[in-house]
Amino acid sequence: AAAAAYEAEDATVSRGRVDANHAGFTGSGFVNYDNSAGSYVQWTVDAARAGRVTLKLRFANGTPADRPMDIIVNGAPAADDRAFAGTGSWASWSTATVTTDLRAGTNIVRATATTADGGPNVDHLAV
Ligand code: GCU
Ligand code: CA
Repeated sequence: AAAAAYEAEDATVSRGRVDANHAGFTGSGFVNYDNSAGSYVQWTVDAARAGRVTLKLRFANGTPADRPMDIIVNGAPAADDRAFAGTGSWASWSTATVTTDLRAGTNIVRATATTADGGPNVDHLAV
């Protein structure tokens, strides 16, 4: 099946805001994390069946410094301090993948910044 895209601007955002000032995003914008550890974007993802999937996080990081995030699925860590390296500019978007198990029905996927720089800019989550 085609990947379903869940826009960050439609997700739950804690300590961040929706911006649209850097080109190349899908939907109506992207989430600009506050520059603080613990800021997050949280999506509700529906899975038709339980099983292994690849989460694809589309992001931009216009700095040379990594912006690591914990990827937490249904409250359990799927990736600890996953790297979100610099992409060259805030308008250059890349995709980071994390493999995880989903359960049938509703799943909660959260991407939490782990450093004081906050997360990268996040465009969407595709599953
Ligand atoms: C700039 C950029 C933002 C980005 C921020 C950051 O202000 O315009 O989109 O989120 O840097 O460093 O996090
Ligand atoms: Ca930011």
